[in-house]
Amino acid sequence: MRIEAEAVAPANIAVVKYWGKRNKQLNLPLNDSLSITLESLQVRSKVTFDENLNHDEIFVNGERLSDYETREYAGRVLEIIRKLYGKRVFARIESTSNFPSSAGLASSAAGIAALTFASNAALNLGLDDKELSKIARVGSGSACRSMFGGFVRWNKGESDEGDDSFCEQVFGPDHWPNLVDVIGIFKEEKKKVSSRSGMESSVASSSLLKCRLRFVEETFDDIIKAIRDRDVNSFFHLTMRHSNSMHAIILDSWPSMSYLNDKSFVVMDWVHEFGKAAYTFDAGPNPHILVLEENVQEVVNFLEGLGAKVIVSKIGKGPSLVRSE
Ligand code: ADP
Ligand code: DP6
Repeated sequence: MRIEAEAVAPANIAVVKYWGKRNKQLNLPLNDSLSITLESLQVRSKVTFDENLNHDEIFVNGERLSDYETREYAGRVLEIIRKLYGKRVFARIESTSNFPSSAGLASSAAGIAALTFASNAALNLGLDDKELSKIARVGSGSACRSMFGGFVRWNKGESDEGDDSFCEQVFGPDHWPNLVDVIGIFKEEKKKVSSRSGMESSVASSSLLKCRLRFVEETFDDIIKAIRDRDVNSFFHLTMRHSNSMHAIILDSWPSMSYLNDKSFVVMDWVHEFGKAAYTFDAGPNPHILVLEENVQEVVNFLEGLGAKVIVSKIGKGPSLVRSE
């Protein structure tokens, strides 16, 4: 038996960040998070379930992942899929991104969302996007948000089993058509500390973490309202506060860490001065600058002047199937 399906899924940028887990095996987070789905950053994953395989194999942009990486990320998704299918059949996955693999942009969220989506189709499991978001979450937390387009909320949930820790679309991809993300790529190397181990260290050591959790709770409804009303000033302000709040926790962790570099701080200063955009950084130095379309060119010129490669992305749709056989 050999069953194959291929799906494409978008990356997402969190405006309210996920940083810290209450359960490491199930990727259950300590706080709700909120992201924007990115139209221009897509990963295509082809999944082939093959009875002749005796382990999973994953190739990302042609390079085979180590056994550890296979087991601890996509492999966790495949384990759940096998249980639901009722048969222990392993898979070969080929994942390719539409942006340069050296761009320093994490492809894991999109890649894992795409392979979860494709597996459901290949094995005819009939799961809806909400259920698929729970499965993708176990592979990598941020992947669950790539299961939907537009503005996506990941509910942290309360249950120990994770049944209520899933994503939902808050506003569709067309809700704020002139809002775009301008991504500057400065650094192309792999980060020294993975998000997974960075957040583990923060939970173990940061005394500011609980203040941040309170900040997230107190401001979550405000950022949703800002998006609903397309209130640029409030949305930009809260987006930057949320990025800074996560990076403050990271610096406060022990041993101390920072994913930002000197260019990141130059960007932050410039955006404050510019006054018509918001920066947000994931676990890396590359800025995502959210800005209205009419002001994009100024941001692009600024980033290029700093020596960055630039990708401009609109808000996009969720995953889709390329083919299934
Ligand atoms: P991040 O956690 O910031 O996304 P990485 O991009 O390094 O960090 O990815 C973390 C892990 O996700 C990798 O070690 C790898 O196992 C897995 N991964 C990365 N890209 C893909 C992909 N396209 N498809 C499936 N798994 C992936
Ligand atoms: C900074 O989802 O990569 O991008 O669940 O351990 O796989 P794991 O972590 P991951 O962490 C993402 C952290 C972040 C913030 C965010 O996307 O919300």
